[in-house]
Amino acid sequence: MPTPILEVIIGSTRPGRVGPAIARWFADLAAADPRFAVELVDLAEVGLPLFDEPHHPIQRRYAHEHTRRWSAIVERADAFAFVVPEYNHSFNAAIKNALDYLYHEWRYKPAGIVSYGGPVMGTRSAQHLKTVLNALRMVHAGDVSIPLVTTPVVEGVFSGSDSTLRAASALLDELALLSSGLRALRPSADVGS
Ligand SMILES: Cc1cc2nc3c(=O)[nH]c(=O)nc-3n(C[C@H](O)[C@H](O)[C@H](O)COP(=O)(O)O)c2cc1C
Repeated sequence: MPTPILEVIIGSTRPGRVGPAIARWFADLAAADPRFAVELVDLAEVGLPLFDEPHHPIQRRYAHEHTRRWSAIVERADAFAFVVPEYNHSFNAAIKNALDYLYHEWRYKPAGIVSYGGPVMGTRSAQHLKTVLNALRMVHAGDVSIPLVTTPVVEGVFSGSDSTLRAASALLDELALLSSGLRALRPSADVGS
């Protein structure tokens, strides 16, 4: 079986964002783990417009090249880690937009949530995101919750704490387990690819 591809998705897109630093921290931990081939996916670079497909994604009849490009990126993944800020007690709009574009490409794949924010560590954002992952038939694999107040990003680098490291390690274990188990549920074109 090929090494599962874990895509670490940087959810925030604004100038000056801290999301990439947190995503790099998690991606580096994952890359040191031989159970995964890791790819960083930056929604700011993917650059999707506000959802503009005429058909429901369940039909997979994509009218736009940007959707086909996004579909290919998500299709090749076996697992995801969403790196998610908390904006006004929820996750940010770019993530919802990117999720809404597709359906089959997400289905029966595990997803972890690495949330960050003030004292509540982006946990409200993570709770809302779980509901949407569930609608797409993804399997939630666990959370890493980061309090920026006590573990800030300093000069573009996030170092974490012992507890965030433990949570990240537990999440990687769960992602490895579920990515292997869920592979059997995906269409045959997907299995062994
Ligand atoms: C529009 C907006 C709303 C925010 N709302 C919250 C919030 O509800 N809870 C929270 O803990 N932090 C909130 N924050 C602070 C963010 O946690 C902090 O700015 C973080 O750096 C955002 O992630 P980003 O830098 O990757 O965009 C908000 C920030 C912005 C820009």
